[in-house]
Amino acid sequence: MSIALVIPDRKLEQLQQKLQQQLPGVDIQIWPDIHQPEAVDFAVVWRQPAQSLATFSNLKALQSFGAGVDSILCDSSLPDVPLARIVDPDLTKSMLNYLHGVLLHYQLRFDQFALQQQTQQWKARSPRKIQQLCVLGLGELGKAAVMYFQQLGFQLCGWSATAKQIAGVHCYAGEAEFAQAVAEADLVICLLPLTAHTENLLNDQRLSQFKPGAILVNVARGAIVDDLALLQHLDNGQLSAACLDVFRTEPLPAEHPFWQHKAIKLTPHISAVTNADTAVLQIAENYQRVQAGLPMLNLVDKQRGY
Ligand code: NAP
Ligand code: GLV
Repeated sequence: MSIALVIPDRKLEQLQQKLQQQLPGVDIQIWPDIHQPEAVDFAVVWRQPAQSLATFSNLKALQSFGAGVDSILCDSSLPDVPLARIVDPDLTKSMLNYLHGVLLHYQLRFDQFALQQQTQQWKARSPRKIQQLCVLGLGELGKAAVMYFQQLGFQLCGWSATAKQIAGVHCYAGEAEFAQAVAEADLVICLLPLTAHTENLLNDQRLSQFKPGAILVNVARGAIVDDLALLQHLDNGQLSAACLDVFRTEPLPAEHPFWQHKAIKLTPHISAVTNADTAVLQIAENYQRVQAGLPMLNLVDKQRGY
């Protein structure tokens, strides 16, 4: 029995060592150098190439190396075994730090002062009024975000697929309540998974439902936003700014207009990177559960897509 690490374009020796410390005696192989594919019964995956798991004829379970699983589920040759995701307080903390930084950036008008600096303009302005926040997606990260910002004194509302109750937060659910969820928000944070239902969800029609002058922060997946519609709404002033950590194509192609847009701040998908030190503990636990015939922790509903 062995574990395969199928995470392309990444140096995996350290992850292999850390996992080995948790699971002494277990054979851990790094794809594509799999010497005995039939011995692999557990694979840790992230953006695996199609067919890369096909030779693992005795595979029992898959473990995503991140929170999102869209890049795993899009593989049409994905073996029909349970899939678990990472749920890690350390990942959540990174996301909250990032979001707090972004919020302060806009509240203190650092975006506008950076533009002023380019033309040596000395013009003082009072902080932007950011009072109401809306979080799209109230799962592991979205729920943590609403609770975090609520504690800081912001007014919060959230939107999810099924109805939720979170004390002090206006929770909306389903397509019919989207417009209400975003209508009064000064800043909207997208923390939805990318699924067939959320692809291009933030299109022309839905961006028109945002409060005029709102700011969009997308830390979920790029394909949830219609790029052209976002550019149009930034150009016509419906949105005043967007902070994007994720993109339809990553790395963002050199010719993409997002790079040069004055109202867009972008970061290279770093808002919450999986911490190998903490992730290996869950990976090892899930591996042991599979060996003991127990269900893994943090299972993904593959039909639903998250
Ligand atoms: P999660 O626990 O799976 O929660 C997803 C939430 O989205 C749930 O509240 C779900 O509603 C809601 N949702 C799903 N489909 C919906 C729809 N069609 N309409 C309305 N709401 C919908 O996800 P998470 O752990 O919070 O993470 C969210 C996403 O963040 C991940 O999928 C990943 O893509 C992204 N992410 C990005 C980074 C980064 O570094 N940029 C890091 C980690 C994660 P219900 O609760 O009603 O089902
Ligand atoms: C990162 O994007 C993740 O989904 O964990």
